[in-house]
Parts: sequence; C-alpha cells; structure tokens
Amino acid sequence: MGKAARRRHANDGENDSGKALRNGSSYHSRGDRHSGTTESPAGLSPLKLCLLVVTVATGGLVAAYFLNEDAQSVIHSTLLHYGIPDFLQFTGSNPAEDAGQREQTQRQPKKTSYTKSSITNSADKKIRSELDDADSYREKGQIEKAMEKYNAILKRYPKSPRALYGKAENLDKLAEKKQSNTYLEEAIQTFLTVLDLENVPDDLVIQTGRRAAERMNFRGWSAKAVKTLRGLTQRFPQNVALKNELGVAYLMVGKTEEARPVFKAALEIDPKNGFALVHLGFIYKTADNDPAKAIPLLREGINTKAEGTVDGRFYFHLGDSLQRVGQKEEAYEVYKAGADLGLFLSMYQRSLYNVDHLTGRPWWTPEQTTYKKYLKLLEDNWKVIRDEGLAQMDLKSGAFLPEEENLREKGDWKQFTLYQRGQKNKKNCQKVPKTCALIDQIPAAKGCKRGQVKYSVMQPGVHVWPHCGPTNCRIRAHLGLVVPDGPRISVAGQEGKWVEGKFIIFDDSFEHEVWHDGNSFRLVLIVDFWHPELSDHEKANLSPI
Ligand code: OGA
Ligand code: MN
Repeated sequence: MGKAARRRHANDGENDSGKALRNGSSYHSRGDRHSGTTESPAGLSPLKLCLLVVTVATGGLVAAYFLNEDAQSVIHSTLLHYGIPDFLQFTGSNPAEDAGQREQTQRQPKKTSYTKSSITNSADKKIRSELDDADSYREKGQIEKAMEKYNAILKRYPKSPRALYGKAENLDKLAEKKQSNTYLEEAIQTFLTVLDLENVPDDLVIQTGRRAAERMNFRGWSAKAVKTLRGLTQRFPQNVALKNELGVAYLMVGKTEEARPVFKAALEIDPKNGFALVHLGFIYKTADNDPAKAIPLLREGINTKAEGTVDGRFYFHLGDSLQRVGQKEEAYEVYKAGADLGLFLSMYQRSLYNVDHLTGRPWWTPEQTTYKKYLKLLEDNWKVIRDEGLAQMDLKSGAFLPEEENLREKGDWKQFTLYQRGQKNKKNCQKVPKTCALIDQIPAAKGCKRGQVKYSVMQPGVHVWPHCGPTNCRIRAHLGLVVPDGPRISVAGQEGKWVEGKFIIFDDSFEHEVWHDGNSFRLVLIVDFWHPELSDHEKANLSPI
C-alpha cells in the first residue's frame, strides 16, 4: 500500500529537470523499479479530477486522495525534486515491525503464543477475542462491520490501545475506499491518540508511530511525520529501523544535514546496516560530491540486499561515483547489475522515470522521430535562431546560466532556457521572440512536459561526465548554430558531430558524454520532443520533469 512523500521546496529554476532529477542527486529521484510495467510514478490516474494515484515500483499508492490547488502544487514540486514520491522503505516488511516480530517470537514460547501479545496490554488481553474479531473484519475488508465492532469496544473501553489502533487502520482503509482526505486525517488523528495513551506496549507504540508518520507523508504533512519519528527515536534510541525512517523523512523534506547524523548514529549501533549505509553513501555522493567516500558505503550497502537498498538511485550513484574516480569497468558492472535487476532499462539507458513500452535507441533519424517537418522548419530558420542566441551572449544579459547539475568535470558550459516542463518562459522568450515563435508552432516540443528547449553554449576545455537524462519520454535534438572544430558527443559509445544548420537527434536517457577540445565556443539549440510513441493520454497525464 502506498506511501507518499512530498516536500515543499523552491525549485532552483534552472534548466532541465530540476537539477536534482537530472543528475539524480535528489533523494526522490529514485528508479522506478517497474521494469515491466507502464510508468505510473508520475501519472495522474484516469480518475484525475483530483485523485492522484501514483504507483511506484512496489505498487505503492501515493499522495492524498483529493488534491486542492495547494496540494497540487506540492505534488508538482515533489515530482520536480524527488520525481516519484516514495516511501517504499516503509511498506510491507518494515524493519521496525520485523524487529518487533522477532522480539515477540523470542519472548513467547511457541505453544502458548498469541500472535498479537506484544501489542496487547493487560487490559486489552481481557478483551482480546473481541479485538481479534474486529481486526479480522478489518483484515477481510469488511470495513463497516469492523467499524461497528471497534466503536462498540471503544464505548466501553475508550482507552483501549488496540481498539483505537484498529480503528485508525480501519479509518485509513475507509479513506482509501472513499478516496477521502477527511477520513485519512481522522485516521492520522486516531493514530496520534494511541500515542498519547498510557500503557501502550512498546511494539504498538512503534507500529503506531510508524503508521502515523507514513500516513502523514501520504497526506503531504512531511514535517509532522518528521516530528513523530523524531519523538519515537528519542523514546527508542537503540532502534536502528526507526533511525533509518527518520533519516529518510529528513531527506524527503530536504534536510540532508539533519539526515546525515541520524544515519551515522544508526551505523554506530549497527555498522553493517545496509539501509543506513546506502543512504549515508548517497549523502556523501550528492551533498558532498565526494564519490570516493561514497563508494564503499554504497557498495557495502547494496551488497547487503537489505530492504530499501535494491534501488536504482543507489546503483546509479555507485556507478557514477566509480566513473568519476576512473573505475570505469567497475561502474559498468554496477550498471549491468542494476539493469539485470530491472532498475535500469539497460546498462546504458539509466533514466529513472520511464514509460516502458517506448522504443529506445541512442541515435535517431528525422524520419524515426516523426517530426521531420518541424525539424525542417527549425533548420530552415537556423540563422535567425542562431542570431537571436548570439545576441544574448553578446549582451551578457544574464540569459545564459552555468550548468549547475554537477555534470561537468571541467570547463565553461552555459544554457539559456526557453521552455521547460511544457511551459514557456515568457521572460526569456521575449529576448528571442522569433525562435520562440517557431517553437510555438511545434506542439510536441512546446508541450513536452518532460523536456526543455534551450540554447547551450560550450567553451573549449569542457568535459561533461557520462550521464543520463531523467526520462525516456523525450527525444533530444540539437540544432548546430556555431560549430567549430573540437566538440564531440558520444551517446552510448557512438559518436556524433554537430553541423551548423543541421540537427543531430538522440535519446538522452542513454548515457552520453561531451568534450570540447577546440579553440572557440560551440552554440546549439536543444529541443526536446515527446517520444513519438507516447499516446495522447500518456502525454496529458505524465508528470512534468
Ligand atoms: C544534453 C547534453 C551537452 C551539450 O543535451 O543532454 O548533455 O552539448 N548536452 O550541450
Ligand atoms: Mn545531457
């Protein structure tokens, strides 16, 4: 069942995908682990009115049921920064729960064991058959009947932790059934009531707190979730799983520096904890830009195969770290392993926001794109486009901004963005009106919510690390505007070359790398088009990147 994650966070505004998405530095830009299914991470469900159902790799359901405008914008910024909201760590076999269950089986001799004894206090024990009865209706999905039972128990025992907990879970089920935030909020409130009771067994406190935090995240109340988890970790300081959950909650609200000591503390208690290892490694890589320091942690963490470690983001950053310290072969072993696990579409195509029925190939011909007439329109007008771009460079108008996605090893590379996420940047377009008037004639480019239109200027001396774009939903075309000798691009190991007035077309979800060894700048216009195999429905419903 699904979990949500969102976060309010100012978009850095620059370029691409939200840089975090493109370079995968955001915690949430995880891999969709659905190698076999159509992407849902981003998609608003058909019941779109307000219902946002986002399925993630593990089949999670994400986001509040009904979105008001505010929530909508939260979702938007979530998807921007994290891509797919995820809370997978807390699904199914939760580490905290597992620990609880382990303890319980150790404590209880087998014969007399009552499976719920660790969450049942002495008063509840006396009414345990009634509680079990209500639970079993809930577990069978007979929500109304279960509600009657819980309410009947609570009438007599208003402070029964198990009855309140069961009611909270039941309200949550009701919320899902009715797609109702009101019930969801009531469920959260009821979980919190359990936490305020006296004589709640530790296991039930942990279970309740965890569920409360999870549902808060789903509702978009990430800060509250953090608060709840912080309280729990203070109460159970030796519980590593809770620390891990708190660390993730911090990451999801963008508080990396708060997350860092939490994962460190988890590792002090359990140095081989895979979950904490990959997350601390992730922080070293993305926040500190220290691949050498990240490698051992990511590697050791991934090798544990622990819940939450088999994840495209960690394979992505381990491979990328290895590439950046020059261990290429090892990097490709990691990518291959990731691809074999279905975390990547292939070892070279490592985008994490994918629709999986789309043809993927590194280089495209104009015919293959189906956008030949539009490509020609732009080629026919390339000098106009060039001159408008050059004027902005000359003016030093501040139109061109440095690439800030940590993609460069070295050199000076700037971009001037005209459209992103399917939206025209009106201010920037005023500076290059003829170019934007041309793009406005191209629905698949101006409306490409998972791409951009931008000028890209590269000075001699640049090396762009091998990298992959965030999504396989776009085809990227570069129109050569000023092309000296020297710049080179390789996509999945196949070299291409810019030519003035002509497009080169590739799928930037495949690994690509750029060098400029010439003597003067290179200028291109980058135009992203929707992948031609996407249906109108998909294009309408995919989240922007
Ligand atoms: C890209 C890219 C570099 C360049 O378009 O995805 O990495 O040459 N381009 O501007
Ligand atoms: Mn790129």
